[in-house]
Amino acid sequence: MNTVIRPFQPEELARIKEITVAAFDGVSIDRNIEDRFGPIGNHNWQWRKARHLDEDAARDPAGIYVAEQSGQIVGYITTWCDRQASIGHIPNLAVDQRWRGQGIGRQLINHALAAFRTAGLALARIETLQQNEIGRTLYPELGFEEVARQVHYCMALQPDSSTTH
Ligand SMILES: CC(C)(COP(=O)(O)OP(=O)(O)OC[C@H]1O[C@@H](n2cnc3c(N)ncnc32)[C@H](O)[C@@H]1OP(=O)(O)O)[C@@H](O)C(=O)NCCC(=O)NCCS
Repeated sequence: MNTVIRPFQPEELARIKEITVAAFDGVSIDRNIEDRFGPIGNHNWQWRKARHLDEDAARDPAGIYVAEQSGQIVGYITTWCDRQASIGHIPNLAVDQRWRGQGIGRQLINHALAAFRTAGLALARIETLQQNEIGRTLYPELGFEEVARQVHYCMALQPDSSTTH
């Protein structure tokens, strides 16, 4: 089936959030935190993860591209350009489970890389979690090289817990 990659429209934010919360189950720091600590401040991990898309759209809505098949949005990629540093960033990327394995993820990344090249940037950055086998396979296949690993920690803040010692 023919996939079109095109610029995102602001009214499509709800749809890309919907794809996000379904796609990132099991491959999200927010989900890991909920598994360990439960809901935080009356919000679940889906609420926190979806908020990343608000941040991406507020930072650079023109840097978001959607993948469309038969008039339906089936995936998206968010990007932003740090022109001073000559680095293009890809904060979020997801394809609806039902449309995976057709090369749409690759198409979205290649579209972002082409936009970075057109903008004259020198380097592209993307991150993935150790637990994300697809990301750890797909990104090196596309030419990304690993440069660092990071460890994320959390601590529950109980009342008075910091004053007991
Ligand atoms: C990452 C994602 C966008 C890829 O979308 P997609 O349209 O299925 O990607 P493509 O069809 O272009 O490429 C699939 C590639 O993923 C990799 N892959 C798929 N399943 C895999 C698995 N079980 N183990 C390892 N790698 C796998 C392979 O490199 C595969 O390429 P191949 O089909 O040539 O072997 C999609 O899996 C997704 O939305 N995942 C959840 C959200 C996510 O992890 N986003 C990225 C956060 S860093």
